[in-house]
Parts: sequence; structure tokens; C-alpha cells
Amino acid sequence: MLEPRFRVASFISVIILLIGSSQKAESAIGVNWGTLSFHKLKPSIVVDLLKENKVQKVKLFDADPDSLKALMGSGIQVMVGISNDMLATLSSSTLASDLWVRQNVSRYMVKGGVDIRYVAVGNEPFLSSYAGQYQSYVMSALLNLQQSLAKANLAGYIKLVVPCNADAYESTLPSQGAFRPELTQIITQLVSFLNSNGSPFVVNIYPFLSLYGNPDFPQDYAFFEGTTHAVTDGSNVYYNAFDGNLDTLVAALSKLGYGQMSIIIGEVGWPTDGALGANLTAARVFNQGLINHVLSNKGTPLRPGVPPMDIYLFSLFDEGAKNVLPGNFERHWGIFSFDGQAKYPLNLGLGNRLLRNARNVQYLPSRWCVANPSTDLTDVSNHMKLACSVADCTTLNYGGSCNGIGVKGNISYAFNSYYQLQLQNSQSCDFDGLGMVTFLDPSIGDCRFLVGVTDVSSSSFRQICRWLILWVLILWGFWVFPI
Ligand SMILES: *[C@@H]1O[C@H](CO)[C@@H](O)[C@H](O)[C@H]1NC(C)=O
Ligand SMILES: *[C@@H]1O[C@H](CO)[C@@H](O)[C@H](O)[C@H]1NC(C)=O
Ligand SMILES: *[C@@H]1O[C@H](CO)[C@@H](O)[C@H](O)[C@H]1NC(C)=O
Repeated sequence: MLEPRFRVASFISVIILLIGSSQKAESAIGVNWGTLSFHKLKPSIVVDLLKENKVQKVKLFDADPDSLKALMGSGIQVMVGISNDMLATLSSSTLASDLWVRQNVSRYMVKGGVDIRYVAVGNEPFLSSYAGQYQSYVMSALLNLQQSLAKANLAGYIKLVVPCNADAYESTLPSQGAFRPELTQIITQLVSFLNSNGSPFVVNIYPFLSLYGNPDFPQDYAFFEGTTHAVTDGSNVYYNAFDGNLDTLVAALSKLGYGQMSIIIGEVGWPTDGALGANLTAARVFNQGLINHVLSNKGTPLRPGVPPMDIYLFSLFDEGAKNVLPGNFERHWGIFSFDGQAKYPLNLGLGNRLLRNARNVQYLPSRWCVANPSTDLTDVSNHMKLACSVADCTTLNYGGSCNGIGVKGNISYAFNSYYQLQLQNSQSCDFDGLGMVTFLDPSIGDCRFLVGVTDVSSSSFRQICRWLILWVLILWGFWVFPI
């Protein structure tokens, strides 16, 4: 028997617990921080940008030491990633998984370190276009990593997850949702593993891709502003593709006996360039609609009042070095451009009414490379091809923001993209005499001719120089004015 005093205390704590748990589920808005860019901001600038925008959760695609070092002491919760091509090794060797955990997790889990909460094992490993090549590695990689986390005493704190593409399940009506037949077995193993570890199911949902891939897809159903194409599913009515998609997953999980499993949206967003439906207005309307919808805590017809646990917007920045096989829009998902400037007004629901720009970005000088107007440009096509095979020219294509700038404009744009990529090295604007450097911004309308940012190494070099100069001055001060 407890003493009465303690009984009161435990009674009060039970009440506190009850109040806590009866509160509605609150989703948190986080962001994906991808780094496939030619012009990378310094990680410390990125972390300041996250803090300035009150972003508390960030998802990485790897465990890049520079990014993680910058996140140390920030208090931001982090999902680190493991790329698909590492799955084979991690599935075959516990030594490899021990090493991975030691090098990429344990050493950051110290006071003033990084608050790593999740490890994403693979990225969309079940994507149909991978034709199953990673599928067989997923479970054993998970099991090895789980053991390694346990050995490091981290298994209770850090959850392993597997971000899945939405094409892992399918259905015409949400209530009929089911995983693709060839995935049923592996997904059953996966969700049973997740469930026994208290891990959520992570899924990436892209109404934009539904719209892009299907000319008959009703455009207003992709957004959250109301639709003339609501989907009726028994007694449930769906007004947006996001809810429909999410409930298809809920139904598919229910079929496997895990209808209550928590869901995190690992990626969701809208691109601003590189395709007809990709523009600033659409991206703003989609992302704001999504954030408001999720934060309203309405949930979905199959999960009323229970929105996804967390939502990671895709993406923080444009990534000009991303593969464009899926489409030119791939390089334009950022809510910020590559240099950390907000592309449109967005209220993340985290306290600021608008996005705040990155600060202390170090740009290259304000110069651009353009086609020399006084030369004959008939021989230019090879140069242009070469420039665009390395640098990003995706905005020039149909549906892009620079599509209407004419032949000369095209050439100049290509030259400039290449020149900035080469950090404005003067030879890189030669093109056999067809290029020239200008100090007048050639940007036209929505078509922005970029100026690169100094890369990490050169800026840290500059910082070292500054320190050296400072020290020399200080020492000189001591020498001249001995105290
Ligand atoms: C740690 O992660 C990095 C970046 O994702 C990767 O390159 C490296 O191989 C990992 N370390 C181990 C021991 O696997
Ligand atoms: C922007 O995209 C939306 C759909 O995604 C489209 O309806 C609209 O016409 C586009 N706006 C412009 C100016 O292209
Ligand atoms: C500019 O380049 C794009 C992409 O190659 C092309 O679609 C467009 O037609 C070009 N414009 C002109 C005027 O040649």
C-alpha cells in the first residue's frame, strides 16, 4: 500500500498523463535538406536558416559529417539517411552496420551533439523503377542496424524507418488500398518490424506527380482549395489527393493488421519550375494548403482527428545537380532557391508569418557570362550542349521560367550557368571567343540568371585567412603596446 501522500501524488501524475494523452495529435512540419547542388551553402548558414525559420525537424538523405557537425547543439531533431547503394553491405555484415552506427550516429549522440531521432534505411527502395534490386536487402539491413543501435544503447531513442514511395500501394478508391502484390510479403515483414519497435511508417506523397503523369487527373483535386471532382468512397468523401492517398495507405496497412500504425510523410511538396504545372503560385498554394490542412488536425476520413505524425516538406532548397530523368522539375522543389532566398511567401505554422531568407550568404562577384553579341553564333550548339551537360539549363525547356528568352538568350543562359558552376573562372566564359563577361544582370522577367555562391572550401579558406590576419594584428598589438 502506498502512503496517502504518495497516492495523491501518483493520482495527480495519472491525471497529468491523461490530460497529455487526450490532447489532439499535433503534427510537426519539418523539411528535407538535400545537397545535390553545384552551389552549396555552408552548412552553418543552412542551420541558421532552419533556426531562423523555427524549423525543429530536418531529414537528411545521408549522414554527411559537415551537415551533422553544423547541426550539433542546435536542438533540431534529425532523421539521417542511408542511401540504397549501401543496403547490400549493411545487410550482409553486422560489422558494417556497427561501423555505420558508430561513425554516423553514436559519435553525435553526446551532450551538445546532434539530436538524431530516426535513421532512414534506404530511400524509396521499393520504387517500381528499381525493379526490386534493393528489396531483398531491406529487412536484413534493418535487423543488423537494430542490433547495432542496441549495442550502442540507442535502440530505445532512435527509430529505424524505411521511406516508401507512394507507388508501393494502389487502388482506385482509398478504402480498397493494398500494397502491390509483389511487395506484400516484404511489407508485411517491414510493418511487423516497425510495429515491434514503435516506429512509424514513412511515406512520400506527391500529388504533383499524379497531375504531371496523368493528363486526365483533375487539377483542383491535387490542391486543398476545394474540388469539383470529389471522390466518393462509400460514406466517405475525399476533396484532395493527399487525403485520398494517405487513406489508401491506411487501408493497405489495415489489411495487414496494422491499421493504427503512425504515419510520417517523409516527402511532400510542389516544384516551381521545369514543367507546365510547376510554378511559384501553384507551389505556394499547394504548400500553404497542405500546411493549413495538416495543422487543422482534421485528419482524414479513415483517421478523423489524427493527422500524420510529422510532415517533411520537399524540399528546403533547389538542387541543380539532381538527376532529371523523372523530369526537369526535379531541380526545382525548393521553398528556398539554391542560395537560401525564399521563393514565395509561406507560413510554415511554426511561428513566423513568412519565410526568412538565409543570412551571410557569400556570393561570387556580380558578373555574368553571356553570348558575345558581336560574333557569329552559328557554331555555338556544341558549346551550349557541353555547358548544359554539366550545368543546369532545365529552366530553358518547355514549361520552364526561361523558355521564352529566344536563341541568344538560350545561349547566354547556358554560358552563364556553366561559368557560375566553374566559380567564374575567366577561361570558362571563353567558348572559343563566343562568350563574354558582363556586369549587367541579364535576367529577364521571371528568368533569373544566377550568380553562384562561393563554395564551402573557398569560403572556409577565406575564414582561415581572416583569422590569421586577426591574430597577426593582435600579436602585433601586443608587440607594439606591451601590457
Ligand atoms: C557514414 O555515412 C556516410 C555518409 O552518408 C557514408 O559515406 C559512410 O560510408 C558511412 N560510414 C560507414 C562506416 O558506413
Ligand atoms: C501554374 O500551375 C498551375 C497548376 O499547377 C496552373 O493551373 C497555372 O496555369 C500555372 N500558372 C502559370 C502562370 O503558368
Ligand atoms: C531554347 O532552348 C530550349 C531548350 O533546348 C528550346 O526548347 C527552345 O526552343 C529554345 N529557344 C529558341 C528560340 O531556340
